[in-house]
Amino acid sequence: MELDMDLNRSVPQLDWAPHLASRTAGMKSSAIRELLKLTQQPDIISLAGGMPAPGLFPLREIEEACRHIIRENGPQAMQYSATEGYEPLKEYLAATVHKYGVPAVPGNVLLTSGSQQALDLVGKIFIDPGDYVLTGGPTYLGAFQAWGAYGARYHTIPLDDNGMIVDQVEHAYKKVLTDSGKPPKFIYVLPNFHNPAGTTMPQERRQQLAEIATKLDLAVIEDDPYGELRYEGEDIPPICTLIPERTIYLGTFSKTMAPGLRLGWIVCPEVLMSRFVQAKQGADLHTGTFAQYVANDICQRGLLKPHIKKLRVAYKERRDTMLDALAELWPAGCNWTRPQGGLFLWARVPEPIDTKAFLNEVAIKEKVAYVPGVSFYPNQDGGHNAMRLNFSYCPPDEIVEGIRRLGVALKKALGD
Ligand SMILES: Cc1ncc(COP(=O)(O)O)c(C=O)c1O
Repeated sequence: MELDMDLNRSVPQLDWAPHLASRTAGMKSSAIRELLKLTQQPDIISLAGGMPAPGLFPLREIEEACRHIIRENGPQAMQYSATEGYEPLKEYLAATVHKYGVPAVPGNVLLTSGSQQALDLVGKIFIDPGDYVLTGGPTYLGAFQAWGAYGARYHTIPLDDNGMIVDQVEHAYKKVLTDSGKPPKFIYVLPNFHNPAGTTMPQERRQQLAEIATKLDLAVIEDDPYGELRYEGEDIPPICTLIPERTIYLGTFSKTMAPGLRLGWIVCPEVLMSRFVQAKQGADLHTGTFAQYVANDICQRGLLKPHIKKLRVAYKERRDTMLDALAELWPAGCNWTRPQGGLFLWARVPEPIDTKAFLNEVAIKEKVAYVPGVSFYPNQDGGHNAMRLNFSYCPPDEIVEGIRRLGVALKKALGD
C-alpha cells in the first residue's frame, strides 16, 4: 500500500513540558552513559565504563545453551513466563547464595532485568517524594539515578579504606530524622569491591552495621554485583547473613556471565515478595524467558564456576597491571585504593586538579577517559579531585598506555 504522505515534511514542535509528570524533574541521564558515547571513538583508551572484557564473554557456552534450549524447550523458552522467574534458575540461585549463609529458598528469590531493575523496584516500593536514603559518598550512581525518579533525597556517609564508615550511620540517621521529621527509608551498601571506591567492608564492620541497623530499625539494601570476583583474601559473608529479616540482597549475572543478558536477582524477606512482584509486573511482566533459560543451562551444566575462575585470573592480572603502572607513572601526591576484587579503583589527585574539568579539557584530548569522582556523589558535594578507573575492559597493554597518558598530563598540570 502506498501512503499519500510526504514523509520529509517537517513536524511541528509541541511543548511537552506541561504534559510531563513532575517526577521527571528528578530524572537525570547518567553521566557515565553520556561519557561512554564519547569514549566510543575508536582511538580513545577508556578506563571509564564498568564493562566486562568483551573477549572473555562465554560465547561458546552461550551458543551451546541456545542450541540446546531451542531443540529441547523452544516453545516454552519463547513464551511469557512467571514474574518471579524461571523455577530451576531460582532454585540454583537460592542454593548458591545459601552456601554463603544467605537463608534463601526459591520462594524469596525474584529474577530481575539486571540488578539495575532491582534498584528501580526498590525505589518504586519504598520511596515517597522527599524521603531520605542513607548511602555512601561516593556510591553507585545508577542507584541514585533510579531513586531520583521517585523523589529521593540523599544523606551520604563517607568511606575509608574499609568501605562506609559505619560509626557515622547513627548520627546520619538522627540528622535525617531531625531535618525531615522522618527516618531514612533505608541504607544502601556495597560491601564487596565497591563501585566506585574499590573498597571492601571487613567482617567486623558488617557486624557493626547489622547491629546499628537493628537498633535503629533500618532496612538495608545490599548490592553485590562483584562478590564473585575476588582476586585475593577470603570471602566475607554478606550482611544479609547477619540480618536477613531486614536486608534486601541484590545479585546479577552481568559481571560473571554477560550484561547483555540483563539478568539479576533479588533475595528478600518472603513478606516483601508480593510487593516486588506487583512492582515488576507493571514494569515488564517478567524478565526475558529465553535469557533465563540460557543462564540456567550454563549454571546447571556446571559451566559458570570455571568461567568465573578464568575471569578472576584475567582481571587480577589487569588490576595488578594498573596498580603497577600507577606506582611507576603517576606523580607524587596521588593515591589510590587497592581493590581485593571487582572492576574499579578510586584514585585521588592533588587538590588543585578538578577531575571533571581535567577530563574534558585535557584527558579526552590525550585520548584517555575515566569517570570524574563528583559523578558518584548524589549531592555533588565531593570527589572533585578523585576519579574512578576501570581495569576490566582494556587489555593490559592499553591499561599501561592509558595510565601513562594520564600520568604525563597530570605531571604537566602540576608543573612537575
Ligand atoms: C553497584 C552496581 N549495582 C548495580 C549495577 C547494575 O548492574 P546490572 O543491571 O547490569 O545487573 C551495577 C552495574 O555496573 C553496579 O556496579
